[in-house]
Amino acid sequence: MGKINTVIMSENKIYRSPSWARLWTFTDSESRGRLELVVLQNKKGSYGIIENVLVKEEFRNQGIASSLIKEAIETSKQKGFYKITLTCADDLTYFYAKLGFAWHPLGQSHCMRMNLK
Ligand SMILES: CC(C)(COP(=O)(O)OP(=O)(O)OC[C@H]1O[C@@H](n2cnc3c(N)ncnc32)[C@H](O)[C@@H]1OP(=O)(O)O)[C@@H](O)C(=O)NCCC(=O)NCCS
Repeated sequence: MGKINTVIMSENKIYRSPSWARLWTFTDSESRGRLELVVLQNKKGSYGIIENVLVKEEFRNQGIASSLIKEAIETSKQKGFYKITLTCADDLTYFYAKLGFAWHPLGQSHCMRMNLK
């Protein structure tokens, strides 16, 4: 019942400075879940950062987030990106590992934040 048939991808914003950056939103056709993929470039090529993965409470544990993440991975592969990164809480590392993500020793092992408000 919770499985996704259609994932809608939309591009919300494009900035030109300091380099191309895009914000893609992946949503299922019934708007039960969503995620954002921030697309950036460096000297190695384009890459994505997954942000704001959110599924409405009543539709959780039905595979919706997994389907959206798989779609974001597939799109990233098709676009030729060389990596996708994300930060998550400790208890979600198993969830992301099942989808193919792994802790990277040279990557962002700590999510650092400064609250400004
Ligand atoms: C995390 C979240 C996106 C998962 O969405 P979902 O559609 O329920 O995910 P799926 O159905 O594809 O996968 C569910 C799996 O994630 C696991 N999971 C979900 N939340 C979890 C948590 N807080 N801690 C550990 N595992 C969790 C479930 O146990 C389940 O595991 P299983 O497949 O081994 O049974 C959803 O619970 C959510 O929106 N949470 C609040 C926002 C959030 O934490 N976002 C993640 C930011 S990195």
